[in-house]
Amino acid sequence: MAATDNVTGVPTLPEVQMNTVKPTGPVTGRILRNEPCTARKKAAGFVHHIDIDVSGTPLAGNCRSGQAFGVVAPGEDERGRSHKPRLYSLASPTQGEDGSGNVISTTVKRTVDEHWETGKLFLGVASNYLCDLEVGDEVQVCGPNGKRFLLPTEPEQHDYLFFATGTGIAPFRGMVKELLEANVDSRVTLVMGTPYATDLLYHDMFKELESKHENFSYLTAVSRGAQEDGGIKPMYVQDRMAANADELGDQLNSERNLIYICGIAGMEVGIFQQLAKQLSPEQVANYLTIDPEVADNIEGWERKMIPKKIHPTKRVMMEVYA
Ligand code: A2P
Repeated sequence: MAATDNVTGVPTLPEVQMNTVKPTGPVTGRILRNEPCTARKKAAGFVHHIDIDVSGTPLAGNCRSGQAFGVVAPGEDERGRSHKPRLYSLASPTQGEDGSGNVISTTVKRTVDEHWETGKLFLGVASNYLCDLEVGDEVQVCGPNGKRFLLPTEPEQHDYLFFATGTGIAPFRGMVKELLEANVDSRVTLVMGTPYATDLLYHDMFKELESKHENFSYLTAVSRGAQEDGGIKPMYVQDRMAANADELGDQLNSERNLIYICGIAGMEVGIFQQLAKQLSPEQVANYLTIDPEVADNIEGWERKMIPKKIHPTKRVMMEVYA
């Protein structure tokens, strides 16, 4: 859409390697760490942080934060075919967990569900396989994938407003670490949404980073319980944006600011609605090109209107999933 070309502050994204390791010929990585990354042991879901040593493979040094990689679980599906690779977001910074790209990481939530028709237990194949792996175990990996959800080539030229829900935090763990470790002179704000405070992922790490870096703010939004700051009203990430509008105003209005959204499908609509409510039309235009047909009915915005009627500009990066 031509209108996006008029926006200032558009980032230049790096050229990335894709599928250096093809899904048909995965390479062997080795588990270095596999541990829960929820705030407390009482969390409703089971989410693990997993480090994988990929040294000596073409994945080493070739995975950027924001990209994903594939995991091929052993065994066969119910039709007797090998399992297809499942994609997992990298949670590691571009320099890897080890500083030299040899150790990648991810954030995995166990899929534990019931079959809709039979009411019988359903366990996700790859997520439970990964969460059950032990340190030293081998795992078949491929990738990397993704060329849009990345930090810019000149990260210090921008500020960053990251919105995550659930395991959508994975790329932001990598990006936040990458930006802060490089000491960039950028404002970095992370807004993290989960059902309960006990589900907040990497909570202690983000708290610690916030205490050490003045340019980093970590905000949380709990949708089914009390807030971390003692507030009792449940909220989504977009409600946190509204509640902290004063604090976020300068950053949202900055020509340098980029918005990244990762997590549950539908969250992007709420964030766009809140942007339209909170900012002047000129400021909103930095992030969204809105069809006049829907401009006056913000409450009526729906996901299917994206991108035709509500078109994110190149200052908005999205990775959402059902
Ligand atoms: P809720 O499920 O209470 O409605 P997880 O991936 O761990 O389930 O977390 C997803 C989080 O995103 C939950 O807090 C969920 O709230 C919240 N959520 C669900 N729908 C939206 C939406 N449209 N916009 C923002 N957050 C949402």
